Amino acid sequence: MYKMIHCSWGINLSKPRVYVTRQLFDEALEILRRYAEVEVFEGVDDPAPYELILSKVEEVDGLLCLLTDKIDREIIKTGRELRVISNCAVGFNNIDVEAATKRGIYVTNTPGILTETVADCAWALLLAVARRIPEADRHVRSGGWVHAWGPRMFLGSDIHGKTLGIVGLGRIGAAVARRARGFDMDVLYYDVKRREDLESELGASFKPLDAVLSETDFVTVHAPLTKATHHLIGRRELSMMKRTAYLINTSRGPVIDEHELYTALKEGIIAGAALDVFEREPIDPNDPLLQLDNVVLTPHISSASVETRTRMAVVAANNLVSVLRGKEPPNLVNPEVKEIRPLRSQ
Ligand code: DGY
Repeated sequence: MYKMIHCSWGINLSKPRVYVTRQLFDEALEILRRYAEVEVFEGVDDPAPYELILSKVEEVDGLLCLLTDKIDREIIKTGRELRVISNCAVGFNNIDVEAATKRGIYVTNTPGILTETVADCAWALLLAVARRIPEADRHVRSGGWVHAWGPRMFLGSDIHGKTLGIVGLGRIGAAVARRARGFDMDVLYYDVKRREDLESELGASFKPLDAVLSETDFVTVHAPLTKATHHLIGRRELSMMKRTAYLINTSRGPVIDEHELYTALKEGIIAGAALDVFEREPIDPNDPLLQLDNVVLTPHISSASVETRTRMAVVAANNLVSVLRGKEPPNLVNPEVKEIRPLRSQ
Protein backbone atom coordinates (compact mmCIF):
# COMPACT_ATOMS: atom_id res chain seq x y z
CA MET A 1 0.00 0.00 0.00
CA TYR A 2 2.72 2.48 0.93
CA LYS A 3 4.91 1.96 -2.07
CA MET A 4 8.70 2.05 -1.94
CA ILE A 5 8.89 4.06 -5.10
CA HIS A 6 10.86 7.07 -6.22
CA CYS A 7 8.20 9.21 -4.90
CA SER A 8 8.42 12.95 -5.44
CA TRP A 9 7.40 13.38 -1.81
CA GLY A 10 10.52 11.55 -0.59
CA ILE A 11 11.04 11.22 3.15
CA ASN A 12 9.08 8.76 5.27
CA LEU A 13 7.89 6.03 2.97
CA SER A 14 6.24 4.07 5.75
CA LYS A 15 3.59 6.72 6.15
CA PRO A 16 0.51 7.01 3.99
CA ARG A 17 0.31 10.03 1.75
CA VAL A 18 -2.35 12.70 1.78
CA TYR A 19 -3.07 15.62 -0.50
CA VAL A 20 -5.00 18.61 0.83
CA THR A 21 -6.50 20.86 -1.84
CA ARG A 22 -6.36 24.17 0.08
CA GLN A 23 -4.49 25.77 2.97
CA LEU A 24 -6.51 24.62 5.95
CA PHE A 25 -6.28 25.47 9.62
CA ASP A 26 -3.13 24.33 11.44
CA GLU A 27 -5.19 22.34 13.93
CA ALA A 28 -6.35 20.09 11.09
CA LEU A 29 -3.01 19.83 9.33
CA GLU A 30 -1.36 18.76 12.60
CA ILE A 31 -3.79 15.87 12.92
CA LEU A 32 -2.93 14.73 9.39
CA ARG A 33 0.81 15.19 9.82
CA ARG A 34 0.89 13.01 12.92
CA TYR A 35 -0.09 10.10 10.76
CA ALA A 36 0.70 10.89 7.13
CA GLU A 37 3.01 12.61 4.71
CA VAL A 38 0.97 15.64 3.83
CA GLU A 39 1.17 17.93 0.85
CA VAL A 40 -1.03 21.01 0.81
CA PHE A 41 -1.95 23.09 -2.23
CA GLU A 42 -0.59 26.55 -1.68
CA GLY A 43 -3.71 28.47 -2.62
CA VAL A 44 -5.64 30.16 0.13
CA ASP A 45 -8.44 31.65 -1.91
CA ASP A 46 -8.06 29.89 -5.24
CA PRO A 47 -9.14 26.30 -5.57
CA ALA A 48 -6.52 23.79 -6.71
CA PRO A 49 -6.73 23.39 -10.49
CA TYR A 50 -8.47 20.23 -11.64
CA GLU A 51 -5.39 19.02 -13.55
CA LEU A 52 -3.27 19.43 -10.45
CA ILE A 53 -5.61 17.35 -8.30
CA LEU A 54 -5.64 14.77 -11.07
CA SER A 55 -1.87 14.49 -11.00
CA LYS A 56 -1.59 14.52 -7.19
CA VAL A 57 -4.23 11.89 -6.67
CA GLU A 58 -2.13 9.38 -8.56
CA GLU A 59 0.18 8.89 -5.63
CA VAL A 60 -1.91 9.46 -2.52
CA ASP A 61 -3.84 7.28 -0.10
CA GLY A 62 -6.08 10.10 1.08
CA LEU A 63 -7.51 13.27 -0.39
CA LEU A 64 -8.88 16.08 1.74
CA CYS A 65 -10.93 18.33 -0.51
CA LEU A 66 -13.45 21.13 -0.47
CA LEU A 67 -16.84 21.66 -2.07
CA THR A 68 -15.17 23.68 -4.84
CA ASP A 69 -13.20 20.62 -6.02
CA LYS A 70 -14.93 18.49 -8.59
CA ILE A 71 -13.96 14.96 -7.66
CA ASP A 72 -15.28 13.12 -10.67
CA ARG A 73 -14.94 9.63 -12.11
CA GLU A 74 -11.66 10.52 -13.82
CA ILE A 75 -9.99 11.66 -10.60
CA ILE A 76 -11.33 8.66 -8.76
CA LYS A 77 -10.06 6.28 -11.43
CA THR A 78 -6.64 7.93 -11.41
CA GLY A 79 -6.30 7.54 -7.63
CA ARG A 80 -5.10 3.95 -7.77
CA GLU A 81 -4.02 3.94 -4.12
CA LEU A 82 -6.81 6.22 -2.95
CA ARG A 83 -8.71 4.90 0.04
CA VAL A 84 -10.48 7.95 1.36
CA ILE A 85 -11.91 11.21 0.07
CA SER A 86 -12.67 13.50 2.97
CA ASN A 87 -14.82 16.47 2.00
CA CYS A 88 -14.55 19.46 4.28
CA ALA A 89 -18.23 20.28 3.87
CA VAL A 90 -21.56 18.81 4.78
CA GLY A 91 -22.71 18.76 1.14
CA PHE A 92 -20.91 16.27 -1.11
CA ASN A 93 -22.52 16.90 -4.49
CA ASN A 94 -19.01 17.76 -5.77
CA ILE A 95 -17.99 14.09 -5.45
CA ASP A 96 -19.02 11.17 -7.64
CA VAL A 97 -19.85 9.00 -4.63
CA GLU A 98 -21.07 6.12 -6.76
CA ALA A 99 -17.77 5.91 -8.64
CA ALA A 100 -15.86 6.13 -5.35
CA THR A 101 -17.93 3.37 -3.77
CA LYS A 102 -17.35 1.06 -6.73
CA ARG A 103 -13.62 1.48 -6.29
CA GLY A 104 -13.80 0.88 -2.54
CA ILE A 105 -13.01 4.48 -1.64
CA TYR A 106 -14.48 5.82 1.59
CA VAL A 107 -16.18 9.21 1.26
CA THR A 108 -16.73 11.36 4.35
CA ASN A 109 -18.24 14.77 5.11
CA THR A 110 -18.63 17.13 8.07
CA PRO A 111 -22.26 17.10 9.15
CA GLY A 112 -23.62 18.57 12.36
CA ILE A 113 -20.82 21.03 12.93
CA LEU A 114 -22.05 23.87 10.80
CA THR A 115 -25.73 23.45 11.63
CA GLU A 116 -26.11 26.34 14.07
CA THR A 117 -23.76 28.64 12.16
CA VAL A 118 -25.64 28.18 8.89
CA ALA A 119 -28.96 28.64 10.71
CA ASP A 120 -27.65 31.92 12.15
CA CYS A 121 -26.72 33.03 8.66
CA ALA A 122 -30.06 32.04 7.15
CA TRP A 123 -31.67 34.26 9.75
CA ALA A 124 -29.21 37.07 9.10
CA LEU A 125 -30.16 36.94 5.43
CA LEU A 126 -33.87 36.76 6.19
CA LEU A 127 -33.66 39.80 8.45
CA ALA A 128 -31.41 41.66 6.02
CA VAL A 129 -33.69 41.29 3.03
CA ALA A 130 -36.95 41.85 4.91
CA ARG A 131 -35.67 45.01 6.59
CA ARG A 132 -33.62 46.10 3.58
CA ILE A 133 -30.45 46.44 5.65
CA PRO A 134 -27.83 46.16 2.86
CA GLU A 135 -29.82 48.55 0.69
CA ALA A 136 -30.08 51.08 3.52
CA ASP A 137 -26.38 50.68 4.28
CA ARG A 138 -25.54 51.43 0.62
CA HIS A 139 -27.82 54.47 0.79
CA VAL A 140 -26.03 55.93 3.81
CA ARG A 141 -22.53 55.26 2.48
CA SER A 142 -23.28 56.75 -0.91
CA GLY A 143 -24.36 60.06 0.65
CA GLY A 144 -28.00 59.47 -0.30
CA TRP A 145 -29.32 60.10 3.22
CA VAL A 146 -30.37 63.72 2.91
CA HIS A 147 -33.72 63.75 4.77
CA ALA A 148 -33.37 63.02 8.47
CA TRP A 149 -36.37 60.72 8.80
CA GLY A 150 -39.38 59.87 6.69
CA PRO A 151 -42.46 57.83 7.46
CA ARG A 152 -42.04 55.91 4.22
CA MET A 153 -38.28 55.66 4.17
CA PHE A 154 -36.96 52.12 3.54
CA LEU A 155 -40.16 50.38 4.46
CA GLY A 156 -39.64 46.66 4.77
CA SER A 157 -41.63 43.80 6.14
CA ASP A 158 -42.20 42.73 9.73
CA ILE A 159 -40.78 39.36 10.61
CA HIS A 160 -42.27 38.70 14.04
CA GLY A 161 -45.69 37.13 14.00
CA LYS A 162 -45.38 36.02 10.36
CA THR A 163 -45.26 32.50 8.94
CA LEU A 164 -41.99 30.82 8.12
CA GLY A 165 -41.80 28.09 5.49
CA ILE A 166 -38.95 25.60 5.65
CA VAL A 167 -38.09 23.42 2.68
CA GLY A 168 -36.02 20.56 4.05
CA LEU A 169 -36.30 19.85 7.76
CA GLY A 170 -32.89 18.30 8.28
CA ARG A 171 -30.48 19.48 10.95
CA ILE A 172 -30.14 22.99 9.55
CA GLY A 173 -33.84 23.39 8.75
CA ALA A 174 -34.68 22.36 12.31
CA ALA A 175 -32.16 24.83 13.76
CA VAL A 176 -33.73 27.58 11.68
CA ALA A 177 -37.18 26.56 12.95
CA ARG A 178 -35.99 26.69 16.58
CA ARG A 179 -34.94 30.31 16.14
CA ALA A 180 -38.38 31.21 14.77
CA ARG A 181 -39.86 30.81 18.25
CA GLY A 182 -38.04 33.96 19.33
CA PHE A 183 -39.88 35.81 16.58
CA ASP A 184 -43.24 34.38 17.55
CA MET A 185 -43.73 32.86 14.13
CA ASP A 186 -45.82 30.00 12.84
CA VAL A 187 -43.69 27.41 11.09
CA LEU A 188 -44.72 25.21 8.17
CA TYR A 189 -42.33 22.77 6.62
CA TYR A 190 -41.98 20.43 3.69
CA ASP A 191 -39.60 17.51 3.50
CA VAL A 192 -39.67 14.31 1.44
CA LYS A 193 -39.98 12.57 4.77
CA ARG A 194 -42.41 13.89 7.35
CA ARG A 195 -40.58 14.55 10.64
CA GLU A 196 -43.30 13.89 13.20
CA ASP A 197 -40.59 13.37 15.80
CA LEU A 198 -39.65 17.07 15.57
CA GLU A 199 -43.02 18.68 15.06
CA SER A 200 -44.05 19.37 18.63
CA GLU A 201 -40.57 20.41 19.78
CA LEU A 202 -40.31 22.87 16.90
CA GLY A 203 -43.97 23.84 16.74
CA ALA A 204 -43.76 23.09 13.02
CA SER A 205 -46.52 21.66 10.84
CA PHE A 206 -45.94 19.47 7.82
CA LYS A 207 -47.50 20.61 4.53
CA PRO A 208 -47.01 19.69 0.88
CA LEU A 209 -44.45 21.87 -0.88
CA ASP A 210 -47.09 23.88 -2.75
CA ALA A 211 -48.84 24.77 0.51
CA VAL A 212 -45.58 25.81 2.17
CA LEU A 213 -44.89 28.07 -0.78
CA SER A 214 -48.33 29.62 -0.97
CA GLU A 215 -49.10 29.99 2.75
CA THR A 216 -45.91 31.46 4.17
CA ASP A 217 -44.22 34.86 4.27
CA PHE A 218 -40.64 33.61 4.22
CA VAL A 219 -39.45 30.47 2.49
CA THR A 220 -36.03 29.23 3.49
CA VAL A 221 -34.44 26.36 1.58
CA HIS A 222 -32.37 23.68 3.32
CA ALA A 223 -32.45 20.80 0.86
CA PRO A 224 -29.37 18.96 -0.39
CA LEU A 225 -28.67 19.13 -4.12
CA THR A 226 -29.67 15.89 -5.80
CA LYS A 227 -31.23 15.05 -9.16
CA ALA A 228 -34.62 15.34 -7.47
CA THR A 229 -34.00 18.78 -5.96
CA HIS A 230 -32.38 20.38 -9.02
CA HIS A 231 -34.59 23.41 -9.81
CA LEU A 232 -37.03 22.32 -7.12
CA ILE A 233 -38.05 25.98 -6.98
CA GLY A 234 -38.78 27.12 -10.53
CA ARG A 235 -41.30 29.34 -12.30
CA ARG A 236 -44.38 27.41 -11.14
CA GLU A 237 -43.24 27.33 -7.52
CA LEU A 238 -42.28 31.01 -7.46
CA SER A 239 -45.62 31.96 -8.90
CA MET A 240 -47.33 30.17 -6.02
CA MET A 241 -45.60 32.33 -3.41
CA LYS A 242 -47.25 35.45 -2.00
CA ARG A 243 -46.27 38.67 -3.76
CA THR A 244 -45.14 39.89 -0.33
CA ALA A 245 -43.01 36.83 0.39
CA TYR A 246 -39.23 36.38 0.51
CA LEU A 247 -37.07 33.44 -0.52
CA ILE A 248 -33.83 32.59 1.29
CA ASN A 249 -31.30 30.03 0.08
CA THR A 250 -28.28 28.80 2.02
CA SER A 251 -28.32 25.24 0.64
CA ARG A 252 -27.07 24.83 -2.94
CA GLY A 253 -27.65 27.25 -5.81
CA PRO A 254 -29.12 24.85 -8.37
CA VAL A 255 -32.01 23.98 -6.04
CA ILE A 256 -33.51 27.25 -7.30
CA ASP A 257 -33.86 28.11 -10.99
CA GLU A 258 -31.97 31.40 -10.85
CA HIS A 259 -33.20 32.63 -14.20
CA GLU A 260 -36.81 32.24 -13.08
CA LEU A 261 -35.99 33.81 -9.75
CA TYR A 262 -34.59 36.87 -11.49
CA THR A 263 -37.84 37.25 -13.45
CA ALA A 264 -39.92 36.78 -10.29
CA LEU A 265 -37.92 39.45 -8.44
CA LYS A 266 -37.97 41.88 -11.36
CA GLU A 267 -41.69 41.48 -12.01
CA GLY A 268 -42.71 41.66 -8.37
CA ILE A 269 -43.98 38.08 -8.28
CA ILE A 270 -42.23 37.83 -4.93
CA ALA A 271 -40.99 40.66 -2.71
CA GLY A 272 -37.35 39.70 -2.37
CA ALA A 273 -34.70 37.05 -2.01
CA ALA A 274 -31.50 36.48 -0.09
CA LEU A 275 -29.00 34.08 -1.59
CA ASP A 276 -25.76 32.70 -0.23
CA VAL A 277 -25.42 30.06 -2.96
CA PHE A 278 -25.68 30.24 -6.73
CA GLU A 279 -26.00 28.10 -9.81
CA ARG A 280 -22.50 29.19 -10.73
CA GLU A 281 -20.01 30.21 -8.07
CA PRO A 282 -18.61 32.80 -8.15
CA ILE A 283 -21.58 34.50 -9.78
CA ASP A 284 -20.80 36.39 -12.99
CA PRO A 285 -20.24 40.07 -12.07
CA ASN A 286 -22.54 40.94 -15.00
CA ASP A 287 -25.35 38.70 -13.79
CA PRO A 288 -28.59 40.73 -13.88
CA LEU A 289 -29.40 39.66 -10.30
CA LEU A 290 -26.69 42.08 -9.17
CA GLN A 291 -28.73 44.98 -10.54
CA LEU A 292 -31.74 44.31 -8.32
CA ASP A 293 -32.23 46.03 -4.98
CA ASN A 294 -34.66 43.45 -3.64
CA VAL A 295 -32.06 40.72 -3.43
CA VAL A 296 -29.29 40.27 -0.87
CA LEU A 297 -26.27 38.35 -2.15
CA THR A 298 -23.44 36.79 -0.14
CA PRO A 299 -20.56 34.61 -1.43
CA HIS A 300 -21.35 31.17 0.06
CA ILE A 301 -20.35 32.19 3.57
CA SER A 302 -23.09 30.63 5.66
CA SER A 303 -20.69 28.38 7.58
CA ALA A 304 -17.95 31.01 7.72
CA SER A 305 -17.31 31.56 11.40
CA VAL A 306 -13.84 31.00 12.83
CA GLU A 307 -15.13 28.38 15.23
CA THR A 308 -17.12 26.40 12.69
CA ARG A 309 -14.64 26.46 9.83
CA THR A 310 -11.87 25.33 12.20
CA ARG A 311 -14.00 22.50 13.52
CA MET A 312 -15.01 21.42 10.03
CA ALA A 313 -11.36 21.12 9.04
CA VAL A 314 -10.53 19.17 12.21
CA VAL A 315 -13.44 16.79 11.64
CA ALA A 316 -12.44 16.31 7.99
CA ALA A 317 -8.88 15.50 9.11
CA ASN A 318 -10.10 13.02 11.74
CA ASN A 319 -12.40 11.35 9.21
CA LEU A 320 -9.51 10.89 6.84
CA VAL A 321 -7.09 9.58 9.45
CA SER A 322 -9.69 7.12 10.75
CA VAL A 323 -9.93 5.42 7.37
CA LEU A 324 -6.17 5.31 6.90
CA ARG A 325 -5.92 3.67 10.32
CA GLY A 326 -8.54 1.11 9.40
CA LYS A 327 -11.20 2.53 11.69
CA GLU A 328 -14.72 3.42 10.66
CA PRO A 329 -14.82 7.20 10.17
CA PRO A 330 -17.41 9.09 12.20
CA ASN A 331 -19.04 10.63 9.13
CA LEU A 332 -19.18 8.05 6.39
CA VAL A 333 -21.28 9.03 3.38
CA ASN A 334 -21.16 5.67 1.58
CA PRO A 335 -21.49 2.85 4.15
CA GLU A 336 -21.90 0.31 1.31
CA VAL A 337 -18.19 0.72 0.68
CA LYS A 338 -17.46 -1.37 3.78
CA GLU A 339 -18.60 -4.44 1.85
CA ILE A 340 -16.30 -3.63 -1.03
CA ARG A 341 -13.19 -2.76 0.96
CA PRO A 342 -13.57 -3.79 4.61
CA LEU A 343 -11.45 -1.76 7.01
CA ARG A 344 -8.51 -3.43 8.68
CA SER A 345 -7.14 -1.81 11.80
CA GLN A 346 -3.50 -0.66 11.32
C1 DGY B 1 -21.27 22.82 3.23
O1 DGY B 1 -20.51 22.40 4.10
O2 DGY B 1 -21.84 22.07 2.43
C2 DGY B 1 -21.51 24.28 3.18
O3 DGY B 1 -22.14 24.68 2.02
C3 DGY B 1 -20.23 25.04 3.39
O4 DGY B 1 -20.57 26.30 3.79
